[in-house]
Amino acid sequence: MVKKIFFLITIVVALVSCNTSFSEKDKEAYTLKGKEIAEAAFLELSTQLTEQMKAGGPAQAIPFCNQKAMRITNQLSEKFEATIKRTSNDLRNDQNAPSKRELEILDEFHKTKLEGKPLKPIVEVDATNKKHFYAPIIMKANCLVCHGTINETVNIKTDSIIKSLYPNDKAIGYNEGDLRGIWSITFKN
Ligand code: HEC
Repeated sequence: MVKKIFFLITIVVALVSCNTSFSEKDKEAYTLKGKEIAEAAFLELSTQLTEQMKAGGPAQAIPFCNQKAMRITNQLSEKFEATIKRTSNDLRNDQNAPSKRELEILDEFHKTKLEGKPLKPIVEVDATNKKHFYAPIIMKANCLVCHGTINETVNIKTDSIIKSLYPNDKAIGYNEGDLRGIWSITFKN
């Protein structure tokens, strides 16, 4: 009987540790993959945004973001076999709202930043064995025409276009170097 119980315990422990095992090697691999995807998505979004800004300034670029940002990330999601999402505590587009776990990650990054420590990507496995990658999105100078301070970097015309498309916009008032939000990438395998 005792032997049987020991045997069962061994099996249960083995199963549990199998399910949650995520070796350092796996972590490194998913961190690299996540970084590659986030960089590709950032490049694609900013290249297209810059083109639209050159062609018609914020008046053209904002409606473009409004219609295309989601489509661009969705296309890249297919290419990389991963769900690519951008989210934040202060949203412009409500469709980018954070999940419970993403809120916790956002809080963690904000706390780390306040403590003046470096922000490093987080890789983890959830209860359904899905792998996730989270990385900070930091404000750059060229983001401020649409996310900076009204009357300073954001002119009145830009502000009124933003408000007409996003009456509940909270993604304003940022400075260069601020934590804007996070990339949240979920791998399909
Ligand atoms: C031309 C104006 C414009 C510029 C410049 C711009 N954004 Fe945005 N941003 C938007 C609009 C419009 C949205 C909402 C549409 C969307 O992308 O879902 C948005 C949404 C976002 C979101 C998604 C979260 C949310 O609030 O909905 C993030 C993150 C973001 N921007 C970061 C940046 C960063 C970082 C830069 C600079 C590299 C930048 N933006 C430059 C207009 C702009």
